[in-house]
Amino acid sequence: MTILTSQNPGRTLGAETARSAHGTTPVRTTVSVIGVGYLGAVHAASMAELGHEVIGLDVDVDRVGALNDGRAPFHEPGFEEILRRGRDRDLLRFTTDYAELAKVDVHFLGLGTPQRADGNGADLTYLQAAVDALCEVLPARDGAPTLVVGKSTVPAGTARMLADQLEQIDGVRLVWNPEFLREGFAVKDTLAPDRLVYGVRDPEDVEETEQVVGMLDAVYAQILERGTTRLVMGYEAAELVKVSANAFLATKISFINAISEMCEATGADVTDVARAIGMDDRIGVKFLRAGVGFGGGCLPKDIRAFMASAEDLGIGESLAFLREVDAINERRRARVVDLAAEMLGGLEGRRVTVLGAAFKPDSDDVRDSPALDVACRLRTAGAAVTVTDPEALGGVEKRVPGMPTEADLDEALRGAELVLLLTEWGQYKELDPARVRELVADARIIDGRNVLEPRQWREAGWEVRSLGRP
Ligand code: UGA
Repeated sequence: MTILTSQNPGRTLGAETARSAHGTTPVRTTVSVIGVGYLGAVHAASMAELGHEVIGLDVDVDRVGALNDGRAPFHEPGFEEILRRGRDRDLLRFTTDYAELAKVDVHFLGLGTPQRADGNGADLTYLQAAVDALCEVLPARDGAPTLVVGKSTVPAGTARMLADQLEQIDGVRLVWNPEFLREGFAVKDTLAPDRLVYGVRDPEDVEETEQVVGMLDAVYAQILERGTTRLVMGYEAAELVKVSANAFLATKISFINAISEMCEATGADVTDVARAIGMDDRIGVKFLRAGVGFGGGCLPKDIRAFMASAEDLGIGESLAFLREVDAINERRRARVVDLAAEMLGGLEGRRVTVLGAAFKPDSDDVRDSPALDVACRLRTAGAAVTVTDPEALGGVEKRVPGMPTEADLDEALRGAELVLLLTEWGQYKELDPARVRELVADARIIDGRNVLEPRQWREAGWEVRSLGRP
């Protein structure tokens, strides 16, 4: 099999409109990004940052308006700067009109693939609708080389199905190029990724593969020139790389959370265990932070879609372990609520302050957020909950109308009978236990992310409970 690496980049197609992967002449490619949600908006601004001429397309008129005004529709460090720079340099604009894509050489598909309403599988409706709409404008290119690049997270088999549709149009080719960006580090992860993965129709077809690889290399030339490894493989492998990576990360978190349950039963400290096992570089310390578990718009829905995909293939048992990964994760949320009830001797009417609503720090994303889920459960159990978060309260109000929120941290803490730290924002990690004690009614805290120093808080008079720590 031919493995093309970044050291062996393929021939550059459309070289007159692109920066050559081999180095020297910086020439611009016209690029579209269809679907400018989190992934797509960051990708569009990043492509402009690389010097390409970019049109972002979305059906959401408000989002397109905000982006054209240089306003980030979500909190992501560094994003608004590159958005504005792209706008100021006249390299970046946003539209709702597919007709404006007719002249574009490279189209990225950044559509969301949420969990289906009727089950665990991925909902491909938005992606399919975008490809259908694109197929209406591509024939206008009269056979000029045109690359469509899939970035959405999809079940294996999707790329080949879409390629069969797109490649009926003269000059059009599809590459599947999964995205590994993390919220909070999205700009860095896009412009300086750990690796680039290109899925192609048939890696054995050297000539065809070199053509499509060369075209995408031209777009990513500056990234490749920094020595980033680029791996070329079949469509299905590329699709599986993405979902396997997320499944592995979810498994790693649930693994340490299962160990955390063992720690609770035996009196051990899970942070000691994680630190020590993480020093084995076959294991590695990253993603071994025990606590209230994983959430967000990716890990939870991706493991469920992965299981659904295995079931569709008739090999459900292969990924059945992910059901347990999901169950461990859910159990941590229930455990925090039980701990709260235990500490307060019942939740009814008790004043509880939840620190954090975002699914992780440096994000305003509350999709499947463990913090917000726990806040909802506490409220359902009758507690008088106040949620605070430096960035995500707008999202809370939209997702859980009526959830009491307080933007001011001191105000949120005032009068609390129990504080729960559920998203590890820097300002929560640095709270001074003596000062906070002045604000609360009772000095009780649950550290749902294992980021506080329990001894320091206990010395300041607090009752401290953690997940997996004595
Ligand atoms: C995740 C992956 O990390 C990205 O590589 C991937 O590109 C992205 O999904 C995606 O598919 O688009 P993200 O959802 O931004 O990125 O969040 P993560 O940093 O993976 O964190 C996920 C959740 O796990 C958070 O709720 C976080 O608090 C939790 N977590 C993380 C833990 O509970 N413990 C840890 O040790 C690490």
